[in-house]
Amino acid sequence: MGVAKKVVDVRSCVAEWRRNGLRIAVVPTMGGLHAGHVSLVRAAQVVADRVIVTIFLNPTQFGAHEDLGMYPAERNRDLALLEAEGVDLVFMPTREDIYPPGFATRVVMDDLTDLMCGALRPGHFDGVTQVVTKLFNIVGADVAVFGEKDWQQLQIVRKLVADLNMPVEILGCPTVREPDGLALSTRNGYLSGDARDVARALYRSLSLVAEEIANGVPTELACAQAEDGLRGAGFDSVDYLECRDGETLRLAMAPFKGARVFGAAVLGETRLIDNVAVPV
Ligand code: PAJ
Repeated sequence: MGVAKKVVDVRSCVAEWRRNGLRIAVVPTMGGLHAGHVSLVRAAQVVADRVIVTIFLNPTQFGAHEDLGMYPAERNRDLALLEAEGVDLVFMPTREDIYPPGFATRVVMDDLTDLMCGALRPGHFDGVTQVVTKLFNIVGADVAVFGEKDWQQLQIVRKLVADLNMPVEILGCPTVREPDGLALSTRNGYLSGDARDVARALYRSLSLVAEEIANGVPTELACAQAEDGLRGAGFDSVDYLECRDGETLRLAMAPFKGARVFGAAVLGETRLIDNVAVPV
């Protein structure tokens, strides 16, 4: 497995693959890798000849009071895991490689970035669109793989690529879960034993709401009851619990085809998000 720290090194490796007519996939990550990330790597290996994983803890998508400083950064562990998966190249730039002194360009999207996580984390998606644009330009992959766990991010990346005519195909992959339904997340590592028990209520609540909506229970009622349920289960607060169209992310209405239930809730210092499809 190659490990490139510099943009020129990724570029020359990719250029060589291109000369040989190979199809290239990229899996962008921030490290702290788990089986959810591995599922994206495996999906990438199915659709491409060579797979690049990027590991970059992007400071511009973290708010001033968020967890950038405590985010796991065990790079040797991440690299061993990717090597075992047969990844071809890891791109692991420094902050200065991505944002050199004097860097001044932002990539800002309207609408999709203003709701749900965007409303709660101002500027978060500006950081995501900025770094994803840079990573796509650096790597020049044919296909990029993202997880449905971060559904809003996935839709924003799809729109970014469409709006700016970026020549890369976006592949979304299903959420990998623990046996009790909790979506795997790097941030699950922050949860203490008790909090971990509470955390499972998020997926359960979202699934219940999705089923209720499919069965004709009014959306607002189903969501409000589930919010109360989450607080009752031990969550400290619920940032949002909403049923929205999976593509436009507007509030969903009957017949709820393509709708999803989205939730974000806070447990101690940890903010968990998840989403599930309405089964219609
Ligand atoms: P990160 O949180 O490391 O996630 C990297 C990719 O893994 C994302 O596409 C995310 O949706 C996916 N992922 C996370 N948990 C998953 C799970 N349980 N099942 C399936 N896929 C999962 O998302 C980011 O990094 C950053 O915002 C990034 C896109 C790299 C830009 O900095």
